[in-house]
Parts: sequence; C-alpha cells; structure tokens
Amino acid sequence: MAVFQGRGHGKIILLGEHAVVYGRPALAAAIPRGCEAWAERAQDSTLSVEPWGVTVRAAEPEQDPERELLRRGFAVICGRYNEAHGGGFKLTARMGIPGGAGLGGSAALSVSVIRALDTLLSVSHTEREVIELSMAWEREFHGNPSGIDSAMAARGGVALYRRGEELAGVQAGGSLSLVVANSGEHGSTKAMVASVARQHARDQVKAEQIFDAIAAIVCNGKSALEAGERERFGQLMDLNQTLLNSLMLSTNTLEEMCQLARAAGALGAKLTGGGGGGCMIALGRDAESAESIASALRARWQEAFVVEVK
Ligand code: PMV
Repeated sequence: MAVFQGRGHGKIILLGEHAVVYGRPALAAAIPRGCEAWAERAQDSTLSVEPWGVTVRAAEPEQDPERELLRRGFAVICGRYNEAHGGGFKLTARMGIPGGAGLGGSAALSVSVIRALDTLLSVSHTEREVIELSMAWEREFHGNPSGIDSAMAARGGVALYRRGEELAGVQAGGSLSLVVANSGEHGSTKAMVASVARQHARDQVKAEQIFDAIAAIVCNGKSALEAGERERFGQLMDLNQTLLNSLMLSTNTLEEMCQLARAAGALGAKLTGGGGGGCMIALGRDAESAESIASALRARWQEAFVVEVK
C-alpha cells in the first residue's frame, strides 16, 4: 500500500515564552530536528510514535494521561479528515526531538501528521490551514496554546510571533551559536501554562507587569538579533530567565545548567518553552565556544547540541 510522508519543525523560543499566551510577542527559531510522519489508508486510525514506542488508537481512550492527550489530539485531526474523505489512517511518526522538553514536539508531530495525510489524500491545505489544524490538536494536548509552536512547526526560520497574527520573519544580522541542553526532567507545558494562569488570576496586575517586562525584552532582543549584537542578546536572555524564574517556571536543575553554561563562557542562558523541566538554551560567543559549553553541559546532563540560528 502507498505510504506518504510529511514533516514538522522543532523550535526553540529565544525570548518570550508564556507571556506570548497573553498577547505579548515572542522570538522563536526553528531547529533542523523535528518530526517526520508517514500515512497510509487503514481500517482503524492509529498513530505510532518512535522512538517513544507508543501507539494510540483514535477511537480507544487511554488510561495513561499523557497518552490520552496524544490520542485526543490525533482523534481530532482524524475526525476532520474522516469527515471529508472517509476511512481510517495508519500514521507512523519518528520524533527527532524529545517530547516534554520545550522544543515544540507535539506541534512538530501534529504538523508532520497533517502534512502526511494531505499528501496521502492529495489535499492542499494552505500553511495557515495547516497551522489551524495543528492548533486544534494542540488545544487537546496543552489547553491554551498561543499558536507559536504550530506556526513555527509549519513554517520554520526565525520569527517574531504574536497571538492571532501571522509570523513575521526576522533577518538576523549575524548567526547565533546556541546550545540546546535537556535537563532530563519532564516538563508539562499544559501544567506550566495552567500554573501561570493561576498566578495571573491571583494577582493580575503583577503578572501583567511581568509580561510587559518580557515584551520589552523581546522587542529589544529582536533589534539585537537584527544588528548581530550577541552580547546584548545574551544579557536579554539572562533577564528573561530571571522573570521566568519569578513565575516559578524554572527548576533547580535548569538554574544549575544556566549557571554552568555562563561559567563555561555563555553570553546568556535561559529555559526554553514551557519550563518546569525540559530544555535550556545558552548563547556561545561563537561556534567554538558553543561547542565547549555543550560539552561542559553534556558532562553532567543528558543531551546537549549546538544550533546555528541565522
Ligand atoms: O513547551 P513547548 O515547546 O510546547 O512551548 C510552549 C510555549 C508556551 O509559550 C509556554 C506556551 C504557548 O502556547 O505559547
């Protein structure tokens, strides 16, 4: 039987996560690693994700809460294609990024599944439609997505995102050598977004002030990126991390990792994505310095790799 393929990008949020849920801008960069999926016609709709060794059936609720979120996201998408085209679909996906790590794994997965189904069924969704479908999946998966992950997974590149608006591409004035390192602690974006929502409900004025400060960092960061001012960009990453920590999104491990990266020569370091675990990013002075920061981090934690953002 014919099998059709689709891809979605992973992403790092350079500056502005969480505040972006509340309408502030965020700066993000796609990373070469992402997700690939293959689709074929089948009796029942199933999704298998490697290397997780997980298979879910669209029509069979799961006991495990994480698997159930995955199943619900997949079921929403299958339902849409099933209405228009009938039948079931067998999807096999290969994730090149860890899940629950703040690298937009679920959006990369959803976009790769949507694109594989489009290819299988000769459907030509526009990029905007792909993003909207991916957000329908993400709403099941993590509650109140800003849309940044879906937009980056579909489009790639470096961009400024604001909720409800198109991604605006950003032209970097020089490349940024960033280290992405995984704490190995599972961070639930859904739980972290909900925790920020509780803090916002408890003290709206304070939370809005923090979001405004993050927005100022993002605007400043965009101009530093365009001007190729690495040192300024690094300082802004550190400031952003302080504010994320004040929203209780960091962990002892993430703080230790940021400190170690700075001691190893990073110009700045912060968590990326949902937080509460997952990944951090650190900015090297150049590619060589990024490699040595990565090896310092690798000596103590699971995984660290260098991404050139340009
Ligand atoms: O943890 P990730 O990779 O899904 O990133 C989430 C980014 C947030 O700003 C925390 C949430 C969102 O929907 O924008």
